[in-house]
Amino acid sequence: MDQRPKQEPKSFAGFLRGKVGHMSFGALIYSQWEAFLVGIFSGLPGFPGMAVRSLAYKMLFKRLGGFAWIQPRVMFVQADRLSVGRTFGVNTGSYINAIGGITIGDHVLIGSNVTISSGRHPIDGEFPPVFARPAEPLPIAIEDDVWIGAGAVIMPGITLRKGTVVGANAVVTRSTEEYSVVAGAPARKIRSRIADRGKPPGPGA
Ligand SMILES: CC(C)(COP(=O)(O)OP(=O)(O)OC[C@H]1O[C@@H](n2cnc3c(N)ncnc32)[C@H](O)[C@@H]1OP(=O)(O)O)[C@@H](O)C(=O)NCCC(=O)NCCS
Repeated sequence: MDQRPKQEPKSFAGFLRGKVGHMSFGALIYSQWEAFLVGIFSGLPGFPGMAVRSLAYKMLFKRLGGFAWIQPRVMFVQADRLSVGRTFGVNTGSYINAIGGITIGDHVLIGSNVTISSGRHPIDGEFPPVFARPAEPLPIAIEDDVWIGAGAVIMPGITLRKGTVVGANAVVTRSTEEYSVVAGAPARKIRSRIADRGKPPGPGA
């Protein structure tokens, strides 16, 4: 049965209780401290800025396996739930929210203005307003050698399997097959990166 309140929160305090009341005080303070540090480091320009970010995110991420090529103005939320492998690249303007946990493998490249959010806003029923509800965590997995094109949106709960290429502006609503190329909204497989996989090798192979 739906346990959600049957009416709008009447006060700002009621709104906050509904939205973040499930978080401990310590978790709230940590999230604000993290937002402050990400905000400071995200604006640093050039390669020196990238090197500082790589060092800082080694401490803020749950795991960072190697150097991270993170361009300016990339936003991370709940970075302590983000686990990343080796040679990780993200371009300007991307937003990565690890509220539900995000695991990223090795050699993953993310284009500009990509949204990867591992939380979902519950929408059923009239009350309370969607804005006043806490996000539901749903983990995302991005395996090795994935490239996500500019402007793509990766939905909560998705797995991008090894070798996936996501086209520019795709909206990925389903998990992908290994080495598939997906595009469109909703994203559909347009081809495989390994056309002859599974066939016996031809003469001279
Ligand atoms: C997905 C992608 C890798 C496919 O490249 P490709 O295999 O060479 O594909 P093609 O250009 O031959 O296109 C194949 C078909 O898919 C369609 N298509 C390609 N990319 C698409 C996209 N992003 N969205 C929707 N359809 C797309 C093409 O229109 C074509 O359709 P058609 O056969 O009906 O004409 C590429 O188009 C892409 O989007 N790259 C991302 C670029 C980017 O974001 N760069 C900056 C970030 S680092």
